[in-house]
Amino acid sequence: MAQGTETSWWRDGVLYQIYPRSFADSNGDGVGDLRGVIAHLDHLEWLGIDGIWLNPTMPSPNDDWGYDVADFTAVHPDLGTLEDLDELIAEAGRRGMRVLLDLVPNHTSDRHAWFQDALSGRDARHRDFYVWADPKPDGSPPNNWQSSFGGPAWTLDEASGQCYLHMFLPTQPDLNWWNEEVRAAFDDILRFWFERGIAGFRIDVTHGIVNDRELRDDPVATPDDHPLVQARGHQQKYSFNRPEVHDVLRRWRTVADAAEPPSILVGETYVLNLEQLIPFYGQGEDQLNLAFNFLFVHAELEAEAMRTIVEGIEEQLPAVSWPVYTGSNHDAGRLATRWAAGDTERARVALMMLLTLRGTPFLYYGDEIGLPDAPLDPAKALDPVARRTGDPSRNRDPCRTPMPWSADPGAGFTEAGVEPWLPFGDTDAHNVAAQRDDAGSTLHFTRDLIALRRAAADLSGGRYASLPAPEGVWAYRRGDGHVVVLNLSDAEASVDGVEGTIALATDRSRDGEAVSGTLVLAPSQGVIVRGA
Ligand code: GLC
Repeated sequence: MAQGTETSWWRDGVLYQIYPRSFADSNGDGVGDLRGVIAHLDHLEWLGIDGIWLNPTMPSPNDDWGYDVADFTAVHPDLGTLEDLDELIAEAGRRGMRVLLDLVPNHTSDRHAWFQDALSGRDARHRDFYVWADPKPDGSPPNNWQSSFGGPAWTLDEASGQCYLHMFLPTQPDLNWWNEEVRAAFDDILRFWFERGIAGFRIDVTHGIVNDRELRDDPVATPDDHPLVQARGHQQKYSFNRPEVHDVLRRWRTVADAAEPPSILVGETYVLNLEQLIPFYGQGEDQLNLAFNFLFVHAELEAEAMRTIVEGIEEQLPAVSWPVYTGSNHDAGRLATRWAAGDTERARVALMMLLTLRGTPFLYYGDEIGLPDAPLDPAKALDPVARRTGDPSRNRDPCRTPMPWSADPGAGFTEAGVEPWLPFGDTDAHNVAAQRDDAGSTLHFTRDLIALRRAAADLSGGRYASLPAPEGVWAYRRGDGHVVVLNLSDAEASVDGVEGTIALATDRSRDGEAVSGTLVLAPSQGVIVRGA
């Protein structure tokens, strides 16, 4: 196994998620594209990024903005060409950065050739690539599974009289992972991209790839379930989270290890307890390299809550496995809003937490400038979830708006006068150019944090140990030589027994300060103390 406990780019590095439609528009059509990403690789190199994950880049009718793939081995024409992607991989490589693509194996677009063929009748060549079942005698759906995007997970195909499964939109039919041909087709898809030089995949809905073969009903949620499970109404015991998914992951691990160089697999493992999360790492290194931790994403930015989750990972994750932490993404929203409610100090202390934990940090484009969600009109949502459910709190557009590179017309994202595919947020309040000119900005703070993490091996690979701290404060040691103290409360706090020099503080005027004995932190202040 090539990717053991030794150091490696993805364990020690900082990864960065790019939503390609919103990063930079190179051709003035209001939609970000791959050439736009290439044009801004220097920004990422300057920031200190080691790898990027691109949200879906494959052809798609965009019912779910790329998560409805119509062709798994091509590039969406809105984003560019296969040659552009090759160039992006090469240009990133020249700057020491690797590229991960988004793989969406749970479902395809209904316009994928496989599904179009499957619709042609019960005997179609690709019929069994999808999950079909007869409706109940009263005409109701085959079981009680609910789409994650609202409503039943089944749609009747009137022509054949059978229903097909879709755990998301009706235009996102679920693939049948019990079919060996589906598995073989995906082996080829993985190899196709590995041969083009990508460094791995982020795997969409990893926990849901395999559905129960017998299509058993999901149990009703109980008061003991996570609030998000209770809100859903059902435990997704049979529709998602089947043990057989681990066979698929082991199989992909073999394919990824055979790639040159060996590639990594990062899973969207949307489960809400550690007992379900940890098995996605397999025996430590035979399944996913990294399994996103949504307990952490959805926790309050509160000392006790965060410490409990991280201590759980530290205690339960096999020694050969490696944690991963993120605060923002294209579904859950931006940390500057969710955790920090727009407060710059709080966003900074959150970034300090992310970049000093033992685990790979993933930043989402804009996190480095403390970008909040944009306040958009939900009535104009492009997100199918907001449109389908009518629930403005489920609108994902606010965290997918164009990157504000500057306060100029077009925001440095597109040409002046061009309407971007989603509106800009407040580009005066947050933009890269202004923060680049300001040594005290969140952008410089994030860059300095990344540089410190790289320079001090303690902060990347060093072991984690919680330290005693007053209520509202989270203090931990990393390795032998560093202590991180985060005041996540809204009151001033004093922490005793801290000795050393402040290597970096959220309040930059404290950088270099000597600490001996009692450390006093203002609300939402954090420090990294060296030599303690
Ligand atoms: C994942 C993606 C999300 C998408 C869904 C359906 O959760 O992150 O954006 O809508 O899968 O593919």
